[in-house]
Amino acid sequence: MAYETILVETRGRVGVVTLNRPKALNALNSALIAEVTSALDAFEADEGIGAVVITGSEKAFAAGADIKEMASLTFPGTYTADFISSWDRVSRFRKPVIAGVAGFALGGGCELAMMCDLIVAADTAKFGQPEIKLGIMPGAGGTQRLTRAVGKAKAMDLILTGRLMDAVEAERAGLVARILPAEGFVDAVVAIAAEIAGLSLPAVMMAKESVGRAFETTLGEGLRFERRLFQAMFATEDQKEGMAAFVEKRPAAFRHR
Ligand code: CAA
Repeated sequence: MAYETILVETRGRVGVVTLNRPKALNALNSALIAEVTSALDAFEADEGIGAVVITGSEKAFAAGADIKEMASLTFPGTYTADFISSWDRVSRFRKPVIAGVAGFALGGGCELAMMCDLIVAADTAKFGQPEIKLGIMPGAGGTQRLTRAVGKAKAMDLILTGRLMDAVEAERAGLVARILPAEGFVDAVVAIAAEIAGLSLPAVMMAKESVGRAFETTLGEGLRFERRLFQAMFATEDQKEGMAAFVEKRPAAFRHR
């Protein structure tokens, strides 16, 4: 499929989506979100894909929702169309998805990264929710996911002042999983995704689902959910293979089912 605002490629078992509106610092317009949705639908259906990376350019992961597209929107229009709810596809993607963030991840860009399972940052990354400076507030999860990731104090600081946070501060605050050098950044992020994609797909997907549940339920329900999935894993071929390989002192050859 030909895309206009993103580049899509497959590297082994890793699907890579590169946001590609360089003149607008990858501002997230409706065309781009529709294309990301379509690429994720295809990767979800593809048995050969075990993990996905979403990344941008060296200068910007994404500088936010497209301000020029939003400027003339009205409340009745945004309400009836449920504006921005379609971005949710990323958070509903069931295979692991890594945000590889170099440069700016602002507003909706930061929110898109937070919809992913983990954020790997280049040392050039800058995160922020500057919507307040436009006379609005975050609308694609910023007040919720950022607060869960970094806590109330820092979330209030970032959202109420609109200031930016560098990669070191973001890692210290718990938003970012790892910081990597900007040089060779995308290859290094794809290597992390390839490592995950080489493991048992059902195990990886259930582990992802279980961690996700921690944000949506009580501890007791979450523990019960985890235990049921853990028990279900003993029905997979990959559990038999993984444990046999350990006992036989050889690498596991997962069949991903
Ligand atoms: N929407 C539309 N266009 C954008 C954009 C955005 N979010 N961010 C940057 N651009 C465009 C600029 O308008 C400019 O285009 P022109 O050359 O046609 O003027 C081009 O990208 C390059 O940008 P700058 O010249 O501003 O580049 P810079 O290096 O001087 O500054 C920046 C970089 C600090 C990121 C600055 O572009 C900026 O502040 N961008 C806006 C960030 C922002 O406010 N994001 C939040 C958007 S609202 C939102 O996301 C709502 C939500 O919660 C979903």
